[in-house]
Amino acid sequence: MSHTLHPDLRRALAERVRYCHEMGIYDFYRREPRVSESTTAAEVDDQPSTFQEQREEMAARKSTVTAKAVAKVADENILPVLTPHAELSVADPITALKLIREDLGDCTRCKLHKQGRKQIVFGVGNPRAELMFVGEGPGADEDIQGEPFVGRAGQLLNNMIRAMGIRREDVYIANVVKCRPPGNRTPERDECETCSPFLMRQIAAVKPKVIVALGATAAKTLLAMNSSMMQLRGRFYDFKPAGLRSNDPNWDGCKLAVTYHPAFLLRDPRQKGEAWKDLQMVMKELGMKAPAKENA
Ligand code: URA
Repeated sequence: MSHTLHPDLRRALAERVRYCHEMGIYDFYRREPRVSESTTAAEVDDQPSTFQEQREEMAARKSTVTAKAVAKVADENILPVLTPHAELSVADPITALKLIREDLGDCTRCKLHKQGRKQIVFGVGNPRAELMFVGEGPGADEDIQGEPFVGRAGQLLNNMIRAMGIRREDVYIANVVKCRPPGNRTPERDECETCSPFLMRQIAAVKPKVIVALGATAAKTLLAMNSSMMQLRGRFYDFKPAGLRSNDPNWDGCKLAVTYHPAFLLRDPRQKGEAWKDLQMVMKELGMKAPAKENA
């Protein structure tokens, strides 16, 4: 049977499906209608009697109609066209990251876009990196230059990376939020929730072997845990980007370690030794040879 949807309904459903995809929901199920389209006399007898029952029945009818309409969209083969994660169909991580950046666009999804950001700071580094660092969000320098970790904290991160015996260009660096929070405040929960799906997609595109979460915001967002840094550090977690399927059957997630944010280490350099322990754990996991001298 062919269905013709009104263009407005079609557009609304497309938006709804896109929203669901961004929330990580891909599968839609058709709910069996509780009332048939042509109601019979017997069914009329079955109608709810109380006000509460009527309200429940109306809600059920509404969701049945929505489910049917979504099923019609699926029938009409719109879903594959709508799939916003275009990067899932490309194997090359450079193209995949480009597609994610394009999808992000001139983002206005959260309030940070109107709170003084100069530009979106997407991510930088080797799209095929085995090691990925995730920070919190751009600061003033990053906002100006459009690249993560280029300010003072970035200089320290560079030193930490160098101490591991690798170069900044060898790793991939991104943040939980891609716009500078005003006054360098910690990004708020809704901002992290809105922006982190893009980070998850970046991770799925790069497919690192290990992620290092820099600081509590990155750790809590990636792990969806609300523990303290002390509880979070010192071990590996098995990590899979939330709500995403990888297009690579050979990549089934990665390890994740938590360490102190470089900005915190600038404020409390005594903790650098602890951070170095975290990085040594990561190096061991990646089979990296410890360089002759530590200079973190
Ligand atoms: N702090 C972060 O968390 N990210 C940056 O890019 C810079 C500073």
